Amino acid sequence: MRIARNSFQRVQSKRNLISVASLTLLLLASVLLTACTEVFNPTATPVIFDPTPAPPGTRELVLAGSAIDIAALSQPRELPEGNAAGGEALHTTLGCAACHSTGDDTIVGPGWKGLYTRAGERTDLEADDYLIQSITKPSAFIAEGFTNVMPAFDYLSDQELADLLAFVKANN
Ligand code: HEC
Repeated sequence: MRIARNSFQRVQSKRNLISVASLTLLLLASVLLTACTEVFNPTATPVIFDPTPAPPGTRELVLAGSAIDIAALSQPRELPEGNAAGGEALHTTLGCAACHSTGDDTIVGPGWKGLYTRAGERTDLEADDYLIQSITKPSAFIAEGFTNVMPAFDYLSDQELADLLAFVKANN
């Protein structure tokens, strides 16, 4: 009887051991599962990258190690001879036509009829300089009744600028 009871107790304690082990396993599994659950992370506000381009020539001046002469940088830009037909083509290919008619009707920006005359009266800049500024840095002066939505065409070559100006002059 004693032997039988002893072996019964051994079986019993083995069972206990098994159930403790399986409980531990279950606990571990649930901990692991919870740890794996995806945590909802609301999308952060997108960062808008809108760098302000340095004035033309700044890089050369910085590389040369000299102090930046702001006055020299804002000197009127000397342009080559312009070609009105080239400028008319640029009005379409650069997308100016999406916002500017060549007549006097407003699309998003003012129509270009009479623009050359107007350009000389808008600010104290000469007409050519005002036009160059309006194209390369439109936010510098906002024509009355309009908003600051024109993108800066600050990557145009001197020839492209000269062609656009020639077209504006011819279309005046
Ligand atoms: C997204 C629309 C949009 C595009 C594209 C656009 N412009 Fe403009 N533009 C405007 C608006 C609006 C104004 C008036 C506000 C201001 O002065 O910036 C303006 C103003 C101007 C002015 C000054 C006009 C005035 O009466 O004083 C010039 C010059 C000009 N744009 C040239 C251009 C040229 C050249 C292009 C193409 C290379 C171009 N724009 C493309 C919207 C646009």
